[in-house]
Amino acid sequence: MVIGYWLLVIGYWLLVIGYWRLVISDSLPVTSYHLPFTSYQLPVTKFEMANLVITIDGPAASGKSTVARLLAKRLGASFLDTGAMYRAVTLAAIKGGVDMSDEEKLLGVLDNRKFQFAVREGKTVVCIDGVDVTEQIRRPEVTANARHIASAVKLREKLVEMQRQFAAREKKIVTEGRDQGTVAFPDADVKFFLTADARERVRRRQAELRAKGGGESLEQIEKAIEERDKSDEDRAVGPLRPADDAIVIDTTDLSIEEVVERLLRCVEEKCLKRNQK
Ligand code: C5P
Repeated sequence: MVIGYWLLVIGYWLLVIGYWRLVISDSLPVTSYHLPFTSYQLPVTKFEMANLVITIDGPAASGKSTVARLLAKRLGASFLDTGAMYRAVTLAAIKGGVDMSDEEKLLGVLDNRKFQFAVREGKTVVCIDGVDVTEQIRRPEVTANARHIASAVKLREKLVEMQRQFAAREKKIVTEGRDQGTVAFPDADVKFFLTADARERVRRRQAELRAKGGGESLEQIEKAIEERDKSDEDRAVGPLRPADDAIVIDTTDLSIEEVVERLLRCVEEKCLKRNQK
């Protein structure tokens, strides 16, 4: 009789506690503990994903990286160097002895290695499986082989999805590459396409290489840039081209500071108009 009474009391309290646990867990904010970060699956729309997306595309040595980094700093935005992503996968594939014409194997490189990208003191720092490869991804053999990664369709899709996730996380970004305004962020707030006269681009690249101790001749650099641009323009997926609504800026006769100022003015104008709507 007494035991029955106590069983009833305990049962009653178990029911009450169970009910409140349900209510409380329903009202808990969804945090990353409940949502494991599954890559590539989030449908990202402009409004969920970011407050400000600025894209800067352009050919090799057009100055986009430097300008994008400085613009991001001025706007208090995060900077994304998408070329570093293609370079990192290229380096991992070279090191793994992967057949560059085998798309499935290249995809496996992205899936099986851990890539990390961060910006430290204005520089994109890249790690593969915890090893810093920031300098290695700039080597000439990586530059020359990046076209294989750039034209692998599924791999490209995954990299674009990672770029969108970065934007969704950071909210305010300046991203640079070849397809940022056309494919990755067709709804970007402001799109730029930087160009420069071929001779000037070769001169800039030579200065950059010399600063790192490289001794390539103007002819060698010119040939490498021409080949890279051609392959970037001709590929079927995410080719290098300005988006229809991109602001095209010829930087041949402009200093870096002048380009940044011009971009800033365009961003201010566009965002002002957007806020007035
Ligand atoms: O910009 P960066 O010279 O570091 O890019 C290296 C290569 O990565 C490019 O030549 C291009 O083939 C590829 N790339 C791309 N799409 C991007 C960025 C880079 O195809 N958004």
